[in-house]
Parts: sequence; structure tokens; C-alpha cells
Amino acid sequence: MTAPKKLYVKTYGCQMNVYDSERMAEALGGQGYVETDRPDDADMILLNTCHIREKAAEKVYSELGRFREFKEAKPDLKIGVAGCVAQAEGEEIMRRQPLVDLVVGPQSYHRLPEMEAKTRLGEKALDTDFPEEDKFEKLKSRPKAQRGPTAFLTVQEGCDKFCAFCVVPYTRGAEVSRPADRILTEARDLVERGVREITLLGQNVNAYHGAGEGGDWSLARLIWALNDIDGLERIRFTTSHPNDMSDDLIEAHGECRKLMPYLHLPVQSGSDKILKRMNRSHTVESYLKLIERIRAARPDILMSSDFIVGFPEETEEDFQATLDLVEEVNFGYSFTFKYSTRPGTPAAERAQVEEAVKDDRLHRLQALITRQQRAAQDGMVGRTVGVLFEKPGRFEGQMVGKSDYLHAVHVQDPSLQVGQLAQVKIVDSGPNSLRGERVA
Ligand code: SAH
Ligand code: SF4
Ligand code: F3S
Repeated sequence: MTAPKKLYVKTYGCQMNVYDSERMAEALGGQGYVETDRPDDADMILLNTCHIREKAAEKVYSELGRFREFKEAKPDLKIGVAGCVAQAEGEEIMRRQPLVDLVVGPQSYHRLPEMEAKTRLGEKALDTDFPEEDKFEKLKSRPKAQRGPTAFLTVQEGCDKFCAFCVVPYTRGAEVSRPADRILTEARDLVERGVREITLLGQNVNAYHGAGEGGDWSLARLIWALNDIDGLERIRFTTSHPNDMSDDLIEAHGECRKLMPYLHLPVQSGSDKILKRMNRSHTVESYLKLIERIRAARPDILMSSDFIVGFPEETEEDFQATLDLVEEVNFGYSFTFKYSTRPGTPAAERAQVEEAVKDDRLHRLQALITRQQRAAQDGMVGRTVGVLFEKPGRFEGQMVGKSDYLHAVHVQDPSLQVGQLAQVKIVDSGPNSLRGERVA
């Protein structure tokens, strides 16, 4: 038998890219590849890129340049670019960086094995189509390898919302939902392989409307079906759009035992003027009403959001409205971004806010968010929560896991196992994690 070829995958961007990287590694496993964490040792390097931040493409080019020495040492090394920069740049990548052998867009990963074979013949391989078929269905999995206790599962991809700042509708294409039975089959398979918590992924996950028994299924219906899988203990989903938060999904948050009390619901801004210019199609009022209804269904739910500061035409007053909204909602966690232009999106053409102003707003918003985050964490002290343990901690006999509310929790208890779900009393709150003691 020949020695296996080695694959080095580096993943940027969102959780969907993490999921895609796993699928690509599995598909190339069928071509005789095993994964390595050393690029200098690899027969194939694959960069799974993200295009959401400024200069994303430039960063990919500089990263690629650093692989030159590996290719000189090993002329057979193949270099591939996948993900959203691959979709946005296409052929340009090979023109600008001749070291690259393969460019594959997010909708074409199922063609990766044949593309890899083509590169082995000394040819270049490029595919940035948006084909009709379900790429995950076509991506053949390796024989059942054991998995860790948590996994991502993509249920919906792409977006038709066209927020004025965002590249996703261009890089991931139109919104498509996978059929419910394929998702359930994949979920059962994950559970058989040791997974106890599944996070359903989609750029607009709550717009899910996959074909299922009796017609199209909503995300809530899918969650209820997952709730019936023995051995699966926890269900999460991300990322949601406020306008797709349907009644049955809100209800599920109150009634579905395995659905965790955490919801990421990006609002982006607290100014109606800016929301309109962002093409978000929700208002501050509609968002606040929604939060009220979600909290009525599940009072202890922990809410998180994304914010963009310094969007074109954002005044100090608009920014103040964002701070007010944050004060009012009281988020348990949030991600804050400075607006950055993405070529090809409407907002990129507009008059831009000065960099220093953006920096100042970012710092002020972050300070407020950090305060709320700490308060949410400190508020957990004294409570007993479920914790799913994911890995050993830094100290002997210590385990680290995530609480129902997604907080990292450290517990000193040598009898705990990875994959175990235990009831833990929270006794202390540190800067980024909680400490607890097992009670059951
Ligand atoms: N599909 C998700 C996430 C999209 S990207 C959603 O609709 O919420 C994740 C976050 O990146 C966005 O919520 C937004 O806050 C931020 N983002 C996207 N484009 C950006 C840009 N051009 N500049 C700054 N932040 C951006
Ligand atoms: Fe981007 Fe808006 Fe779609 Fe989210 S909803 S992926 S921010 S266009
Ligand atoms: Fe980035 Fe593409 Fe995800 S742009 S955030 S990798 S959808």
C-alpha cells in the first residue's frame, strides 16, 4: 500500500466554512488523503476563505505567497483555494498567483475529488458554478469515524436579503434549503458517532423551508423532529434574521426541551434611518417587540447580536440610538464590527464615515457590550445549569464544557468524561469563563 497523501486545510470565516472544511476533508479522504496540521508536510494545501472583512482577498494572496517555499521543496504539492474569496475572485486567483492549482466555490465542493484528480495530471482546476444538485448529498463520507460531542450541520445556505453591506448573497448565492429527511439522516448518523449537540447552520437559518413529509417544513418543525432523536441532547441554530422569526419557532423556544436557551439575532443598528439604508427591512420597534415575545416564551433566554458601527451616513445621534437599544435589550453576548466596504455591494459606493470616528464608536459600543456580557456571566453564579463537556482543561482532573447558555464552564472533577452532560452549580465567574461544581 502506498503511504497516504496529506491534506492541510486552513479555515477562515463563519461556522459554515468549518462545516464545509470537514466535508471537503472527508471527500478528499476518499482520494487517499489524511489530514495534517503542518503545511510544510502536506501534499495538498487548501485555504477555505472568507470574504466578509476588508482586504480579505489581499490577505489570501499574501498567505498563498508564503507557500512558495513548500512548493519549491515539493513540486508535487497542490495548492487550492475554496470558500467565499474563491467565489468572488474566481480565475483571477490563478492569474495573480500561479502557485494555485485549484479554485473551488462553496457550491461546487462535491466536485473536489475530480478536480483534485485533474491537478494530479498537471492541469489547473476551476469551478465557481452554482449547480442545482445538493453538494452535501454528493460529498461521500468516509466510513463512520467517531466524532466529538458537538457538531455543525448545514440546513440552509445562501441569502436573498441583500443587506446593503453584505457579500454573502453574491458569494453563497440564492437561498436554498436542504430536504428535511437528509438532514435527519445526517443528524442520526452524527449521534451514532458520538455527537450529543447539533448546531443547525444557515446564513438565514430561520428562513429554512426544506421539503419534508406533507410539504415544506419550517425550522421549528425540523427542530421538533430532531428533538425525537434518542441520544441527541441539545439543539442550537445560527444565524437568524429578525424578519424570519416565526411564531412556531418562538413557541419552540418555550416548549422544546432540547432546544437551548440561547438565540443569536443580529440587529446591526439601533437607528431606523440606518436600518433602512442597510436594507434590513426591520425597525427598532419591530425588533424590540420580537425580543419581548421571545422572552415571554422563554424568560431565561440569552440573546446575542451583531452590530456594525460607522455605516455610511451614521451620525453620532444614530450611534447613540444603537447604544440605547443595547441598554434596553441587555444582550448576553455580541459581536461588533466597523463597517468596511465590500466591492460590488451598494453601500460601498456611498460617502464613508471617517476611520477615527468608526474607531471611537467601536470602542464605546464594545465597552457597553463587555459590561453586559460580564453581568450576564456574573448572574449565573449560584445557578445550576446543564454543561456538556467537550475537552480536558489545562489542569489535571479539570474538564471544560459549554453551559446551556453557551458559556464556557470549568469543572474540577476527575470522574467527568468528554461527551458527558452534567448538572453543574456555578460558583465563580472569570473574564471569559465560569467555574462550577458538579451536582448531578
Ligand atoms: N447571515 C448572518 C451573518 C452575516 S455575516 C446575518 O444575516 O446576520 C456576520 C456579520 O458580519 C453580520 O451580521 C454583520 O454584522 C457583519 N458584516 C457583514 N458585512 C459587513 C461589512 N461589510 N462591514 C462590517 N461588518 C459586516
Ligand atoms: Fe448578509 Fe443580510 Fe443576508 Fe445576513 S441577511 S447574509 S447580513 S445579506
Ligand atoms: Fe465569510 Fe463566506 Fe461565511 S464571506 S462569513 S465565509 S459565508
